[in-house]
Amino acid sequence: MKDILFQNVNFSYPNNPPVLVSIDLKINGGEQIAVIGHNGTGKSTFAKLINGLLHPSDGVVWIGDMNTKNYTTAHIAANVGYVFQNPDDQIFHSTVEKEIGFCKKIIRKKRQNIKVQIEEAIQMTGLQKYRAENPFDLPVSMRRFVAMASVLAMDPDILIFDEPTAGQDAYGRNLLKNIFQKLKEKKKTVITISHDIEFVLENFQKLIIMANRGILFYGESQNALQTPELFQTANLELPYINKLCMELGLPCTTDLVQAAQQMYDNYIKM
Ligand SMILES: Nc1ncnc2c1ncn2[C@@H]1O[C@H](COP(=O)(O)OP(=O)(O)O)[C@@H](O)[C@H]1O
Ligand SMILES: [Mg+2]
Repeated sequence: MKDILFQNVNFSYPNNPPVLVSIDLKINGGEQIAVIGHNGTGKSTFAKLINGLLHPSDGVVWIGDMNTKNYTTAHIAANVGYVFQNPDDQIFHSTVEKEIGFCKKIIRKKRQNIKVQIEEAIQMTGLQKYRAENPFDLPVSMRRFVAMASVLAMDPDILIFDEPTAGQDAYGRNLLKNIFQKLKEKKKTVITISHDIEFVLENFQKLIIMANRGILFYGESQNALQTPELFQTANLELPYINKLCMELGLPCTTDLVQAAQQMYDNYIKM
């Protein structure tokens, strides 16, 4: 399983101030991590450095023993799947089925295996009924699942999802929850960027908080929750359940937060 390693990475877009400065980070193969941070803190840039769409201005990004600078994005894409923040940057086929099946042309695997992977990706993303539709006739929330399915079908070891929760209703969030659960069972490395802190805390035990051109926090989500100043520094709102626990002087452990969330959900249903 390939680890992801950032060694003293700096990154600037041409003729612009630095976006990321002195990033040192190791993500072990098989970990599932969420990335949160205010708009413009470099989350998508960070993701693109991992899948080789961008290369560091200084320093090195390693995927296993591959220095991303020495490989083409196409080569890295076989190991690192990236679901773009905007699905329309990724989708270019006239039907959902063709879009998801495109991986047949780019990965070298037995045809039978690829067929199984494509079918599994369609099932995981709930797109069975939409195979013949033009992706652009579907709402953007569903186009996100088309983009996601086309990456899932390639079955890479590392998957990066850039804001998959944006614009998703309860159905979409539940589908996402099941996708992340399945990827965890398959021991995939998953990096999910999201603004939805509640979703992140419910589904990811490990957390990266980005702020001030770097990584403000990397560790267990529980530990971040016990340090509310982190959220202040990152200019992020704590979930209201956590604020409530703090007000009541209770420890913000994941168990307590989940129990409180469950009670609240039950109360809403009454
Ligand atoms: N192609 C680009 N050229 C110049 N600046 C960019 C480009 N893409 C992003 N930026 C800038 O880099 C910073 C980080 O952007 P981004 O990685 O998209 O942040 P996030 O995903 O956290 O919102 C922002 O200030 C953004 O305006
Ligand atoms: Mg972004």
